[in-house]
Amino acid sequence: MLTRRTFLATSSAFAGMSASAGFANAPPTNLIAQESDVQLLPGDYGKTALWCFDGGSPGPEIRVAQGGRVKRRLINRFSQGTSVHWHGIRIDNAMDGVSGLTQAAVQPGDAFDYDFAVPDAGTYWYHAHNRSFEQVARGLYGALIVEEADTLDIDREEVLVLDDWLIDPETGQLKDDYGAPHDLSHAGRLGNLVTANGTFNLTLAARKNERLRLRLVNASNARIFQLGLNGFDSWVIAMDGMPLGAPRKVTDTLALAPAQRIDLIVDVTADVGETAFVVQLEREEAIGLAAFEVAEGGSVNRRDAPTALPPNGHAMVDLKEATQLSLSMEGGAMGRLSAASLGGQVKPMGELVQAGYFWSFNGAVDGIDGDPFALLERGQNVRVKIENDTVFPHAMHLHGMHFHEVADDGTLGPLRDTTLLVRGQTREIAFVADNPGQWLLHCHMLSHAASGMMTKVVVA
Ligand code: C2O
Ligand code: CU
Repeated sequence: MLTRRTFLATSSAFAGMSASAGFANAPPTNLIAQESDVQLLPGDYGKTALWCFDGGSPGPEIRVAQGGRVKRRLINRFSQGTSVHWHGIRIDNAMDGVSGLTQAAVQPGDAFDYDFAVPDAGTYWYHAHNRSFEQVARGLYGALIVEEADTLDIDREEVLVLDDWLIDPETGQLKDDYGAPHDLSHAGRLGNLVTANGTFNLTLAARKNERLRLRLVNASNARIFQLGLNGFDSWVIAMDGMPLGAPRKVTDTLALAPAQRIDLIVDVTADVGETAFVVQLEREEAIGLAAFEVAEGGSVNRRDAPTALPPNGHAMVDLKEATQLSLSMEGGAMGRLSAASLGGQVKPMGELVQAGYFWSFNGAVDGIDGDPFALLERGQNVRVKIENDTVFPHAMHLHGMHFHEVADDGTLGPLRDTTLLVRGQTREIAFVADNPGQWLLHCHMLSHAASGMMTKVVVA
């Protein structure tokens, strides 16, 4: 007899089957962008209206095997156009999700199919890329995990997506002054509530001597997290998705700039009944981001030190062959910028500010519509000396390709897609321009990107 229960069981099994990737013509899974009320603050505040993918912020975790494909149908249920950028993926340019460059913004009520291969394993994320300074601040992002074929010797992993929200304490809602001139011209939109996975008091279970992989993602608009790990022995094994040649023991705080990721191996050293923490250190304060309550049942033995992840196959940069370019970052409050070109004309700072621009790259503020910073041949080796001639930190992100940070002694440092430059710092990056298309190069302090710190690199 077909009871209601068996009917539900069989029909849901069938639904699960038709949604699986096994059918060539199966429609892609939806990714629905819509406003949702979410419990972000302590209970008595009530819910906060966020912009979400599939009803949450972070949105659904997307997990795929290295070399596989991600297929998602973005459905826009906002009153504003949007698009999805797959941050850090060496992606086909047409799928990069940059409104106004690689696609038109998906209009309210419309849909767009993303379908792309993921060549590199690692921790990535996806986020809105139209009016990002507003849409990411409202919550439009999620984690994108590409799994390597090898299984690590760990007990489990946790993905921690960190954010920093600017809340109006009166209403418990997001402050809606997204383009506030002060944020544009200073350190960006800094918040007053930090969360991990959309929760201010994330609590997880752990056991003594357990080994976890933590995948940390900084989804904030402007907050540079200074992370402390208490009750763990920790090693960095990857940054911005890319494995380090050898695990690096953590002996100090870890800086995680907007859009950056760090993969850690952590061994729980806190005792049963104690709590291990990932904290954000700010001035003299330590704010808990995630608490790991240590319960009975752990093993008595520690494991040996972790080994490196297998490398992703990246073309080696030839520094001697590399074309030298330079990028000067200027402007902002207390900066030295007095004029810059906008629409092909040099304008005094006062006029730029009127038009909403506070920053420039090599004396221009045109952003996405301006001349590209570089026109490159496919396979060209490039090194770019980036000079932060401002009094604020910036997190520079290149779309479509990872670059090496070049160390002061001229050797190639780790591969990254986002690099932090503190005030006054100069840093060189180097990469092989092996992914054809139009790629943005911008500051990931999203208020800065919106007010002049954006250009593009074109690879033939
Ligand atoms: Cu993560 Cu242009 O962005
Ligand atoms: Cu910046």
